Amino acid sequence: MQRIFSGIQPSGIPTLGNYLGAIRNWVKLQDDHECLWCVVDLHAITVFQDPKALQQQSREMAAVLLACGVDPHNHILFLQSNVRAHAQLAWIFNCVARLGWLNRMTQFKDKAGKDRENASVGLYAYPNLMAADIHAYHATRVPVGDDQRQHLELANDIAQKFNHDYGVDFFKNIEPVIMGPAARVMSLRDGTKKMSKSDPSDQSRINLNDDADTIALKIRRAKTDPEPLPTEAEGLAQRPEARNLVGIYAALTDTDHAGVLAEHGGKNFGPFKSALADLLVEKLAPIADETRRLLADPGAVDAVLRNGAERAAAIADPIVAEAERLVGFLRA
Ligand code: TYM
Repeated sequence: MQRIFSGIQPSGIPTLGNYLGAIRNWVKLQDDHECLWCVVDLHAITVFQDPKALQQQSREMAAVLLACGVDPHNHILFLQSNVRAHAQLAWIFNCVARLGWLNRMTQFKDKAGKDRENASVGLYAYPNLMAADIHAYHATRVPVGDDQRQHLELANDIAQKFNHDYGVDFFKNIEPVIMGPAARVMSLRDGTKKMSKSDPSDQSRINLNDDADTIALKIRRAKTDPEPLPTEAEGLAQRPEARNLVGIYAALTDTDHAGVLAEHGGKNFGPFKSALADLLVEKLAPIADETRRLLADPGAVDAVLRNGAERAAAIADPIVAEAERLVGFLRA
């Protein structure tokens, strides 16, 4: 069975983008893979996080993942900071990756913005830590949204250079798993920008804990154009906002753009938006309810994470110890 690794930052409430681009696919992949699901708090502090809030957000993220159907018994759910191997291997990868490679990372450019000099070194080296997350387990498949594609290419470059530099065939090639019509969910306010938990405008996203009225209002206010929906998928090409809403609908109903347009093509946005809002409420309300139920017993969530970290470390520690031996660290 192939081993899967994927992660999510506890830097806020997960969005519909996280759900459709990643979490929902994680749950589907559990049937025929051995999976590690990681709440990546080391990644979260690349941008300052209030310490108390970070603890709470980490637990909440774990609860949301459980509520979405992540299975912590047959698979492993844990916090990144609880397994030392990630940071240990990341340091080695900091020394393998080249500045030129990191300079090409578009996500760093987006996140650092104009004030690049003031970004943390961690934000810059972030993809090296991500590579370490995956390679510490010899995972070979990584389900992510489309925005992580470039980071996974870098993770493969790092593995190849490590293997080449040390004359070994140790780290494996990884394959991105980017699934479905919502691999890149866009902002509800701007169809050219990614939906993100850190966007300053709450109106730009659906949060997984939004109540029914909030969801309906956000969808009603979502930016669109004045034309009715096209009848063919090609008609979405120059219409990013329309394409985004149709993609969300398609993902939630397990079809594709053409499938949605066969039903809704030619309609105005009013009735389509109201069908979409109903669908979102139907799919997301049970997740919010289950998250609340789980968080009523925070000790139980923490126990799941503790158990996950122990089992994760049992896999990663020997792999990272071998990497340390290969680079020449003396076990004195
Ligand atoms: P993060 O926390 O930004 O997002 C978690 C997952 O959600 C996906 N995603 C989206 N998919 C579709 N549309 C969107 N608008 C959208 N926004 C986010 C992301 O692609 C991701 O799959 N660096 C990663 C976390 C990470 C990781 C890893 C992932 C750390 N180590 C190792 C895979 C393997 C991140 O910041 O994800």
